[in-house]
This record gives sequence, C-alpha cells and structure tokens, in this order.
Amino acid sequence: KNIAIFASGTGSNAQKIIDHFRNTGLARVTVILSNKAEAGIFKIAEREQIPAVLIDKEQFFRGDTYVKLLQDLDTDLVVLAGFLWKVPANLVQAFPNRIINIHPALLPKFGGKGMYGHFVHEAVLAAGETESGITIHYVNEKYDDGGVILQERCPVTADDTPETLARKVQVLEHRWFPLIVERLLK
Ligand code: GRF
Repeated sequence: KNIAIFASGTGSNAQKIIDHFRNTGLARVTVILSNKAEAGIFKIAEREQIPAVLIDKEQFFRGDTYVKLLQDLDTDLVVLAGFLWKVPANLVQAFPNRIINIHPALLPKFGGKGMYGHFVHEAVLAAGETESGITIHYVNEKYDDGGVILQERCPVTADDTPETLARKVQVLEHRWFPLIVERLLK
C-alpha cells in the first residue's frame, strides 16, 4: 500500500509515520508534498530518500497536477500531517474517504481557519477546558469538518502553558497517527 503525506511544519508526525511503516513493512510513504520550501519535512524526505514535492499554489487550487501525481503513484491513503491549506474539491473527490487529517484538539471545538499550532492550545487554556487531545478525521472541502475517526484525550491542568499542553498533545499524535493510518490501509 502507498501513502502520500502532505506536511508543512516540522514534520514530526510524518517522521513517525515513515518510521512505523519502515519498521513494519506494511506500506510505504511514496511521496511527501509541502507548500513551504523551508519546512523541516524536506530534510526528512532527503534523509529518508523519499521523493518530495514543493507544491505550486496555482496548480494545487486550480489544476489536476497533484491529483494526477497521486493517482500515478497508486496512492491508497493521503495523510495531512500539519498541512494548513484547504484541500480543493477535485482532490477530495478523487480520493473519497481516503484523505485524513490530524488536529491537535478535540473537534468540533477549537477548529477552523487560524486554529493551528499554539493558537489552538492558547484557546483551549483561555476557555478553561479541563481536557484536550487529538482528533483524526476524514477531510472534506471545509476546514476540520469531515467525519471523526479517532479522538484521544489528555488532561489540562492548572499549571499548563501552551508549550506543556502542546507536548502532551504531541505524545498522543505520535502514538496514534501511525496506528490509525495502518488501520485504514487494511
Ligand atoms: C500537529 O500538531 C498536527 O496536529 C497539526 O499540525 C501539527 C504538525 O506537527 N495539524 P509536525 O509538523 O508533525 O510536528
């Protein structure tokens, strides 16, 4: 089975997925796509010898370039791991229920445009929540809106800062994301 990863952050989740499938041999990451030339993911791709593609914005939103690329690679699952652009309709339709995303909070709360990274954890703390966590969900044409596949929780404590909460949530992401990708490929 073939996995394509879209990632524009540090790439820590992408790295966990790459490691998991290298270790198990159950599937492979065939391509990594990113819209940020300076993203950590390009270094990871180079080290792991996985082809990496810098996404052209115009092509992404108006063309079929990336749909075709993913189809040509016989992609079974498209994984968004820190990818902040909305996925265009043609891509969603080409891979129905085969595009997933991870969000660092318990959707439907703390989702939507602008809710990423530290903004999410700041909002969770400002709202006085007693728990946060992760949501892995299918991707449709709206932000953070598709069907939920998995949620895992962690406590929010009085001494939490956005940094400490981010760390707790990241532990959940790294533990669960590779396993859910594996489950969906079966
Ligand atoms: C993760 O927190 C994920 O939930 C969000 O973007 C972040 C990516 O982090 N969608 P990394 O680049 O995998 O470290």
